[in-house]
Amino acid sequence: MAIDHAVFVVFGASGDLAKKKTFPALFGLYRQDELPKTTKIFGYARSKLTNEEFHDKFRSNLKLLNDSQQPKIDQFLGITEYFNGSYDDPEAYKRLELAIQQFEKSQSIATPNRIYYLALPPSVFATVAANLKKYNHNGKVKLIVEKPFGHDLPSAKELQAQLAPLFSEDELFRIDHYLGKELVKNLLVLRFGNEIFNASWNKNHIQSIQISFKEPFGTEGRGGYFDSIGIIRDVIQNHLLQVLTLLTMERPTNFKPESIRDEKVKVLKAFAPIDQNDILVGQYVASRDGSKPGYLDDSTVNPDSKCITYAAIGLKIENERWDGVPIVVRAGKALNESKVEVRIQFKQVAKGVFNSIQKNELVLRIQPKPAVYLKLNSKIPGLSNKFSITDLDLTYGSRYNDFWIPEAYESLIRDALHDEHSNFVRDDELELSWGLFTPLLNYLEGPNAPTPLGYHYGDRGVPGLEQFLAKHGYEIQDRD
Ligand code: BG6
Repeated sequence: MAIDHAVFVVFGASGDLAKKKTFPALFGLYRQDELPKTTKIFGYARSKLTNEEFHDKFRSNLKLLNDSQQPKIDQFLGITEYFNGSYDDPEAYKRLELAIQQFEKSQSIATPNRIYYLALPPSVFATVAANLKKYNHNGKVKLIVEKPFGHDLPSAKELQAQLAPLFSEDELFRIDHYLGKELVKNLLVLRFGNEIFNASWNKNHIQSIQISFKEPFGTEGRGGYFDSIGIIRDVIQNHLLQVLTLLTMERPTNFKPESIRDEKVKVLKAFAPIDQNDILVGQYVASRDGSKPGYLDDSTVNPDSKCITYAAIGLKIENERWDGVPIVVRAGKALNESKVEVRIQFKQVAKGVFNSIQKNELVLRIQPKPAVYLKLNSKIPGLSNKFSITDLDLTYGSRYNDFWIPEAYESLIRDALHDEHSNFVRDDELELSWGLFTPLLNYLEGPNAPTPLGYHYGDRGVPGLEQFLAKHGYEIQDRD
């Protein structure tokens, strides 16, 4: 059903996330005519700013697909207004309500449709949510919240207990932006829409599963924030676990949000507790040529910090489909490249004539340059009978060159606008994901924490990674 009006209020409007992601995503939707015809956007924050100063903060991040869209920038800025208020001042929320109502009245809107987007630290979630409930809960209301949603299981439960009486699960949209990435949105179709994968997606055919996340930069400028977070909370407990859940869940009875999320929850319940000896953790030191600083060189970081900037973790799923299949998730900052990908390595075919043959591998490259490719054995053309491994390649950039591939945030904000919950994290999923990682986090942050292995800024990973992967059934066939 077409939605003809909406009011967005972005809290934390002068912050980094809003500047780099939220407003550019709202603009991306506007540019593509995906926002309702009658839309108003308020940017809410504490700093005193004029509208113009506010627009200047994110204007340069608004992207056009072609020059003819240029006028859209000014039109978008025309519907985007700054609103100054603190997060705990009831008067500010009352003023906000008046401003929204004024707009709704001017457009003869009888049934308000409001989307409140909290690009804020979790310490103020509950305060803002309580004030919104009291002063601004009018008509249809949605609350989009950003990670980190808690720090561990107890804090996530506490936050949830504060929000639940205020906003129902239907009204809440917990963003994990990985769920909005094009390739991640394709996972269920690839798995369940292709019998070739559907039939082989289990312990009988799959040798190992790996998800890896590599970033070529350190915590530059975010050390203070990162030091209390570490790589597990930053990307593994949320982004990578979400991807893994979609890779390993059973087929839902239909593609309705609750059916999908029910299956995600079921597989999350089948994860074995993480073995604290089945991990590799690291912290980066200066690059080999000395040009890039080490983690501890950041003046905002505690000089004795054991915070991990790299982790490889062995996981197991103890159910009919996956029992015995080794899974490794690994993530690191300050590595040699930018890459997020899934590798499903299949078992070896029967030996004999194929003694030296390589294993099939399905690679799902989430970024950069999204691609799905399947490594398969093929005879080398010519007179000999030699064979080699080659790729069946679905690189989006070549195959879908003419398509608009939405940014993750564009896709998710549009979903929230349309009440589509599939790509948002439900409360029980969240609790199970914290439940899985909290004992490990307690160990890593407790008195017996292991000293992280040093790796150089720009390295491929931590020392011992190849042996760790081999122990988990992954045979390196070519460099990854
Ligand atoms: C964020 C993390 O959630 O995800 C960042 O806080 C990380 O540290 C980012 O860089 C990665 O997202 P993307 O979309 O750039 O892969």
